[in-house]
Amino acid sequence: MIILESVAYAVDHAGRRLEILRGVDLTVASGEIVAMTGPSGSGKSTLLALIAGVERATGGRIRVDGRDFAGLTHDDLARLRGGRMGIVFQDFHLITTLTALENVALPLELAGVRDAMEQARVMLDQVGLSDRADHRPLEMSGGEQQRVAIARAFVARPALILADEPTGNLDLETGGRIVELLFRLARSWQAAMVLVTHNPQLAARADHHYRLDAGTLQKMARQDNPF
Ligand SMILES: Nc1ncnc2c1ncn2[C@@H]1O[C@H](COP(=O)(O)OP(=O)(O)OP(=O)(O)O)[C@@H](O)[C@H]1O
Ligand SMILES: [Mg+2]
Repeated sequence: MIILESVAYAVDHAGRRLEILRGVDLTVASGEIVAMTGPSGSGKSTLLALIAGVERATGGRIRVDGRDFAGLTHDDLARLRGGRMGIVFQDFHLITTLTALENVALPLELAGVRDAMEQARVMLDQVGLSDRADHRPLEMSGGEQQRVAIARAFVARPALILADEPTGNLDLETGGRIVELLFRLARSWQAAMVLVTHNPQLAARADHHYRLDAGTLQKMARQDNPF
């Protein structure tokens, strides 16, 4: 599903070349859940932005779904992202003027799906929020907003889920339930998922655990895991 080979990302900043990612290799198969940990500033969000095709790698090769990013235009990448990927952010990124139901229906409506509202309702039910369908984001708790964001990311049954610290703004118990939900949904149709988290206990529940440190990715052996 995802193949990264020697991926590098560097930017010129204030007259200096900053190497943010250096020679990252990563393979994530369909149905696999990969957790990624690492200190702040190590490049986790940058790596997700490269996989999402939002940023371009400055070195190496990225393939998603068999498609080499090098041969894709900005619009091709946006289409691939819209059609095949679901993205969950730490701070939800919901549209505040839309209700929960409308937020979830949006990706389907953009894709021209005719029964978008019905499908969105089914998805909202799956995340346990049927009774909040008409609420706007600011009329919901953090955990509820994140569940809406997850419903929106999953509603089109994407082959690939990218989640960037989806529980970072939630208390431990709510965060645990959110990750439970992410795992259950991803497993239910064998989606591949890359989950960035600061919580080593959550990381240990993934199929594989990688650690990013100063732009270098390292696979964590099971026995290295304290949990
Ligand atoms: N366009 C840019 N110009 C300059 N520096 C950048 C740019 N984009 C990212 N960086 C730097 O790259 C590094 C990695 O950033 P990134 O957001 O990927 O880290 P992260 O691992 O997600 O951190 P956190 O855990 O705090 O979210 C940071 O030091 C950041 O300042
Ligand atoms: Mg980040």
